[in-house]
Amino acid sequence: MMETDSPTATVVRRPLTSEQVNKLAELVAQCQKDHQEASAALAGLRQALAEGEGGEPARGCEAVRAFRSIIDREVILHFGFEETELFPALEEAGERAIVSMPLMRQIRREHDAFADLRAEFNVAAEALDDDCKPEEAFASVTPSVRAMSDFLADHIALETEFLSPIEEALREQQAGETEAVGQDA
Ligand SMILES: [Fe+2]
Ligand SMILES: [Fe+2]
Repeated sequence: MMETDSPTATVVRRPLTSEQVNKLAELVAQCQKDHQEASAALAGLRQALAEGEGGEPARGCEAVRAFRSIIDREVILHFGFEETELFPALEEAGERAIVSMPLMRQIRREHDAFADLRAEFNVAAEALDDDCKPEEAFASVTPSVRAMSDFLADHIALETEFLSPIEEALREQQAGETEAVGQDA
């Protein structure tokens, strides 16, 4: 039978242990913090690209090089964190943490697509490494930079859509446990 990609979340049936809830909440919070930092970096990049196109190519050129270094370090680390820590933990929690498996599959497909986009971006950004003559090089690299920047912004939006109900479910479970402990006391 074909799987549908409806973003419908599954329903919470059994509670997670408080240890699982706290661990998942910690992983999700780390992920969302990375997303906030990345969104701020993307906003800065968009601003610098606009300045680059508006007569300050050196500023744009510098921002593209900084963006490449963020991708090579932070973004790669972040994708690795999601693939090896966050997603396996969410898969294990499954329906008990309102994890939408169709959305997770879509996110994983985007992670695969990222590798190709990064290769293209690196080829374009390479032009700025040895000879950063902004007038020519900056104009030639901007389409790839925008493609990468738009991809990452959309990817963060998708992951936020995926993670928000999970965060809420975990918060509710944490609040329920605190209430239960209060009643026991
Ligand atoms: Fe991701
Ligand atoms: Fe992410």
